[in-house]
Amino acid sequence: GKSGYDHYMLKEIHEQPRALRQCLRGRVDEMAGTVDIEDLGDLSPTGVQFVACGTSYHAALYGAQLFREAGIPAQAFLASEYATSVPPIGDALVVGVTQSGETADTLSALRAARKRGARTMTVTNVVGSTAARECDHAFYIRAGPEIGVAASKTFSSQQVALNLLALGMTNTGDVREIITALRELPGNVQRVLDESVAEDVAEVYEDAGAYFFIGRGYQYPVALEGALKMKEITYKHAEGFASGELKHGPLALVTENTPVFAVVTGDGEQARKTVGNVKEVEARDAPVVAISDGQSDVDRYADHVLELPETHPRAAAVLANTHLQLVSYHVANLLGRNIDKPRNLAKSVTVE
Ligand code: F6R
Repeated sequence: GKSGYDHYMLKEIHEQPRALRQCLRGRVDEMAGTVDIEDLGDLSPTGVQFVACGTSYHAALYGAQLFREAGIPAQAFLASEYATSVPPIGDALVVGVTQSGETADTLSALRAARKRGARTMTVTNVVGSTAARECDHAFYIRAGPEIGVAASKTFSSQQVALNLLALGMTNTGDVREIITALRELPGNVQRVLDESVAEDVAEVYEDAGAYFFIGRGYQYPVALEGALKMKEITYKHAEGFASGELKHGPLALVTENTPVFAVVTGDGEQARKTVGNVKEVEARDAPVVAISDGQSDVDRYADHVLELPETHPRAAAVLANTHLQLVSYHVANLLGRNIDKPRNLAKSVTVE
């Protein structure tokens, strides 16, 4: 059942602290500062190609960044595009990110890769799924069953699982810092769930003409995911952009009737640039909702702030997404949408 929640989606959003703990269980040794993903840790691929669709593709974009930062060339492909023209694979490991393990486009991309001799892996939620059976390796996100058609806890579990995979396979970068941030993540997600003013923001903007989401680096896939969730469950126009791309066209869409959600973390060069993009939006009289850890001065240009606890920017991407899940959920709820079964959509898409 829905355990007292109005919708499965809301229940599943609230299950995230537990889902993330399950994903981490037995896989991190905080004392030693190491990640243990058993035999997968020995794979040491020379490159990684991710294939995925929809929300899982957004997780894959994030995952590819994590591997590149660890010095391994990595790229995310939309599975439906990969299958039509398989890129050179070489020694790369091809990783299908698929919650259900049954998405036809993703299975077909994995099969195309295997035919070219690639080793394959799936990052999935479902033991015994087709992807798990057909791939050489499987890494489970352990989110528990997800009933709502819109992916919520499986996305955050994919984000955490991809961190574990990248750390476990490379053991480079600020491993200790990231491990600490991952350990703190379930508690921080709980804080966001308890304290988010997402419902107030939803009430202010339920009639908006369109919703835009911007972010850079780790927060770019979050912007894409924020927009996809908004489209799926509210049936309203929403788009996610890389912050820097706004001025290359989409800025023409920005008006006082199009709130812009800007995810900004840290106080470095990237944050400063995104704040610059936010100022351009503000100058067009668009309402600004900052999803911010308060380290940059973005809050000064924002009409509303969805606060993030200070943490590693990789973990902040999970927390920012939690706020945006709640905004979409509450807008959809105010509009009376069929949140758990949006029109035209199915939980797993078994046709190409
Ligand atoms: C969005 C959503 C879809 C799926 C996509 C891939 O909320 O649920 O975009 O993410 O159909 O599904 P899986 O991960 O099962 O391959």
